[in-house]
Amino acid sequence: MKILILKDIKVQLEKQIILDVPEFSINEGEILGIIGPNGAGKSTLLKIVALLQAPTEGRVYYKGEEKHANDVSLFIRRKFAVALQQSLLFDTNVYNNVALGLKLRKAPKKEIHERVTYWLTKFQISHLAKKNAKSLSGGEAQRVNLARALILEPEVLFLDEPFSALDFPTKVQLLKEVKEILNETSTTTLFVSHDLIEINHLTNSLAVVIHGRVIQHGMTKEVINEPNVDAAPFLLNWKELYTI
Ligand SMILES: Nc1ncnc2c1ncn2[C@@H]1O[C@H](COP(=O)(O)OP(=O)(O)O)[C@@H](O)[C@H]1O
Ligand SMILES: [Mg+2]
Repeated sequence: MKILILKDIKVQLEKQIILDVPEFSINEGEILGIIGPNGAGKSTLLKIVALLQAPTEGRVYYKGEEKHANDVSLFIRRKFAVALQQSLLFDTNVYNNVALGLKLRKAPKKEIHERVTYWLTKFQISHLAKKNAKSLSGGEAQRVNLARALILEPEVLFLDEPFSALDFPTKVQLLKEVKEILNETSTTTLFVSHDLIEINHLTNSLAVVIHGRVIQHGMTKEVINEPNVDAAPFLLNWKELYTI
């Protein structure tokens, strides 16, 4: 089933069209990647799908019903969770950062404690529970950020370059763990990255965005192995790096 559908989306900034997407959708349970160069419109596309930004034109459907970014019920908001490149943690300890979303939802204390404990263990950050979030390394902070998103048990998880600021070994380790977690939980995920290594590891399907357009969309393996004429220059550069 398609959980989110875009129709005839255009995003215009001043005179420039930065996103022009006639049709786009995510299936339930899918891990869908969005790849493209810097400035291609990936983050804008994610924000439109996540109902965080209203398009200039076009419609967004969640489970068959049209929704508007400026008027989304708390009920729908709570179905989505977002993690970005910058983790934007609060100036309190790790435990409180991970617990915050459930506190806001007024979950019972016992349940909060159980779930925080579970997710701290899952992301191997239990030992950091009492540490202030401001004093964490990049990799640790991103673990907290992801735990904070996943503890909400979202129906759809939106990830925008969450690994981009991490050094290579940290990135590879966290990528493996996140893949396991997403497979275990079958969370529908929209994952934005400019990095083919991350995309290839994590996603089942892939959309290539260049100059605000989705120029190819298919199974990740197929897109990587058989890029169309528009996607080829971007993807083949990456593949060259890969085979060294
Ligand atoms: N708030 C904004 N103000 C001005 N330009 C913006 C803004 N948001 C996005 N853009 C422009 O829109 C284009 C797409 O941006 P973005 O979606 O962030 O691309 P990506 O995530 O692929 O790097 C870029 O050219 C960017 O400069
Ligand atoms: Mg971006």
